[in-house]
Amino acid sequence: MSHHVAPSPGGDRQGGPMSHDASYTPPLEEPTDPRGPLPPTPDTRAPEMRTATGAEAGKDPNARAQQGDYLTTAVGRRVPDTDHSLRAGDRGPTLLQDHHLREKITHFDHERIPERVVHARGTGAHGTFTAYGSAESITRAAFLKKGVETPVFLRFSTVLGSRGSADTPRDTRGFAVKFYTSEGNFDLVGNNIPVFFIQDGIKFPDVVHAAKPEPDREIPQAASAHDTFWDFVSLHTEAQHHTLWNMSDRGLPLSLRTMEGFGVHTFRVIDEAGATKLVKWHWKPKAGVHSTLWEEAQLIMGGDPDFQRRDLYGAIEGGHLPQWELGVQVFDDTEDQMFSGIDLLDPTKLVPEELAPVQPVGLLTLDANPTNFFAEVEQVMFNPGHLVPGIDVVNDALLQARLFSYVDTQITRLGGPNFQQLPINRPHVDVNDNQRDGFHQHAVHAGVAPYRPNSLGAGNPFPAPAEQGGFVDHPAVVAASQTVRAVPASFADHYSQARMFYRSMTPVEKDHIVSAYTFELGKCTVPVVRERQLQCLANIDADLCAAVALGLGLPAPKATEKVADVEPSPALSQVGKPFPVDGRKVAIVCDERSDDATVTALVKAVEKASMVPFVVGPHGGQVGSVEVDKTFATARSVEFDAIVLAGQIAPAPDAVPSYDARNGDQAALGTQTDPRIALMLGEAFRHCKAIGAVSAEAITSAGLPADAKGVVVADGAAIIDQVAELLTLHRVWDRYPTVAR
Ligand code: HEM
Repeated sequence: MSHHVAPSPGGDRQGGPMSHDASYTPPLEEPTDPRGPLPPTPDTRAPEMRTATGAEAGKDPNARAQQGDYLTTAVGRRVPDTDHSLRAGDRGPTLLQDHHLREKITHFDHERIPERVVHARGTGAHGTFTAYGSAESITRAAFLKKGVETPVFLRFSTVLGSRGSADTPRDTRGFAVKFYTSEGNFDLVGNNIPVFFIQDGIKFPDVVHAAKPEPDREIPQAASAHDTFWDFVSLHTEAQHHTLWNMSDRGLPLSLRTMEGFGVHTFRVIDEAGATKLVKWHWKPKAGVHSTLWEEAQLIMGGDPDFQRRDLYGAIEGGHLPQWELGVQVFDDTEDQMFSGIDLLDPTKLVPEELAPVQPVGLLTLDANPTNFFAEVEQVMFNPGHLVPGIDVVNDALLQARLFSYVDTQITRLGGPNFQQLPINRPHVDVNDNQRDGFHQHAVHAGVAPYRPNSLGAGNPFPAPAEQGGFVDHPAVVAASQTVRAVPASFADHYSQARMFYRSMTPVEKDHIVSAYTFELGKCTVPVVRERQLQCLANIDADLCAAVALGLGLPAPKATEKVADVEPSPALSQVGKPFPVDGRKVAIVCDERSDDATVTALVKAVEKASMVPFVVGPHGGQVGSVEVDKTFATARSVEFDAIVLAGQIAPAPDAVPSYDARNGDQAALGTQTDPRIALMLGEAFRHCKAIGAVSAEAITSAGLPADAKGVVVADGAAIIDQVAELLTLHRVWDRYPTVAR
C-alpha cells in the first residue's frame, strides 16, 4: 500500500497521529487497562515551562497536563463512577450531598469566558524569530541583534465575527506577534492591512459598533455588507482608505500563510547612543500574498468554516513551515514627523515602498501548533505597550488609546489583573513587579516589603538604569500647545491615498473591487447609505464610481472634493509576481480505472515539488494501491489550489443515478464523468485554477475545453511540473475576462 502524508496538511487527522506514542492505535473496544495520558502530538508545543515570575521551571511542559492513570476529582481523590449521580434510590431524586456531581457540573457551568470584544475568532501557532542583525544600527533592542533567536507566539484573527464564525469572510485580519525576548515580552499587534479606519482611538467604539452585527437583530454575522457599517464609513470619510483595502483582494486572504502583516502605526527606534529613527513594521510572507475569490470564500464558509486554521495547523504538521520576513521602512525622526508629504502620525496613510523600501531585519518561522487551543490561543493577550528598550511609541492618537484599551479589556476577559501569569503570557525573564494578590494569583511571593523604597526587603527590587536593561521612555519633544480636541490639518486628506491604492491595482484586482462594492452596497437596504457611499467613490475614482453605480442602478455622482493625483505604487498589487509553491494543495482525482502506477507517480511528483497531494477517490479506503484522502462526496474544488485528473472519472456507484438526474436533469444520466467531479472541475475553471489531466478526454468528457489557458494535458508525472509552474502565479488570470478600466 502506498502511504503518503496528505491528510495532515489538511489537518483532518483521518488516520493521522493522535499522540507522540506512535505505537498506540485506538482499539474498537473501550480500553480497560489503567495507564497514563497519551503524550501530545509531535507537531505541537506548549508554552515554555516558567514560573509565574518568569523563572525556568523544569523541562517537561506536559507536567501541566492531566496526570495519572485514574479518574480523580479536581483535588486528586480517585473516582470510581462518573456516570451516575448519587440518588435516593434508582428512581429517586439526586442528593445535594453528591460533591462529585456538584464539582463536575459547577466547573462545566463556568467553562466559557467572554470572547474578545473584537478579533474574537483567531488561530495561533508557536514559532522562532531569528534576527539578521541589520537593525542593529537603528535600535538597541536585544532580540534584533545578529543571530539572536527568540521564541514567539502568533495569533491571527478576523475582526468582526464571533468566536465561532467562519474563517473566510471579507474582513481585515489581525496579525499579533508576541516575542518572548531576553528583555521581556515585545508585542507587535498588527493587521494584514497597513492603514486603519480612524485617526483617533476615541472613535474605536463607534467604528466597531457600526461594523459588528446590527444590535436589534444581531445580523449579519462577520460581515461588513450591511447598512450601519456603510452608514458610518460614508459619513466618516477618513475610513475610506481602509474600507477600500477591505473591498480589495486583501480582505479575502487565501490562507494565513499568504498574508502580509503591518504594524500600521509609526514607531520610534533608539540605538545604543540614543539616536532615533522612525519605522513602520512589515511582515512579508515567503509564500506570497494570495487571496480567495469572493465566490470561493462564500463556498468555503459553508463547506469548511475552519478552512484557514485547518490549513495553518496542517501546514505545520506536514512540515511546510510558514515563514515571514520582518522588515522596516526607516524615516528620519524629524520635528514634523513627515516623510515625502505623508504624515507619519496619521494611521490612515501608508508610505509606498517605492519611496521607502522595506529593509529585512529577521525571519519568523512558525514551527509548532498549540497543544491546547483554550490555554494558548484563547488566553494569550497582546498589548502594544509591551515594548523593549530600543523601541518606543509616537504621538499617534490611535496608538495612545490602544495603550489603555488592551490591558483594560483583558481584566474583564481574563477575569482579573493576573492574566500576565497565564502560561502563554509568562515572559522568559525574571519578573519582580511588586504587584500583589488579585484573583487567580499564581505566584507565592515571600517577604514583607512589596513597596519601594524599603529596607525590610534589603531594598529589592532595585530600579534598573538603561545600562542594566531599563526601559527609558524616550524624551520626546512635545511642542508647546494648548489642550484641544482636534487633529492636525494634514489629517484632512481622506482620499488621495485611497485613489493611489485603486490606481495601483491591475485590471483583475480593480474588477474585484468593483464587484465587492457592488455586492456590499447592494446588501444595504437604506437608499441614502448607498448614495452617500457612491459620493465617496466619486472622490476616489470616477470610473470606480461609475462601475459600482451601474450595478446598483443609480446615477454616478460627480466628485465633491479636489483630490490630489498621487503616483501609483505597483508594490501594492498582488498580481503578476511569481512565488514558491511550497505547501500548495493539489487534488489528484482517480477512480478504479485509473492506472495505479500513474496515480502513485502523480502523488510522488507533487510531494517532490514540495506541494501537498490529496488523493480524491470514489470511496474511502484505497483505490488500487493508493490511500484515498477525500472522496467525491467529501471533497470540493475550493479546498485545492489545483486539480489533476489521473484519467477519465466515471460516475461512482453512489452517483448513479446521478444527483443531477435525481433532480430531473435526465441528460445527466448519460454523463461520462462523475457529476461531483464535473462540478469540481467547473468550479476550478471558473476560479481560474490550474487544471491538469493525463488525457484530453478526461477534461472534455466533463464538459470543459482541453485547450483553454491553464488547462494542461501531459503524460503522467510531467504534468505536475506544468501545474506547479502555473501555481507560481497563484491563478490563471489569463482566463479571467476583465473589463478594461
Ligand atoms: C492600528 C490599529 C489597530 C490594530 C492593528 C489592532 C489590532 C488588533 C489585533 C491584532 C487584535 C487581536 C489580538 C489577539 O489576537 O488577541 C486586537 C484586539 C483588540 N483591539 Fe485592536 N487594533 C487596532 C486598533 C485598536 C484600537 C484603536 C482599540 C481601542 C481603542 C483597539 C482595541 C482592541 C481590543 C479591546 C482588543 C481585544 C483584546 C483582547 O481581548 O485581548 N484596537 N487588535
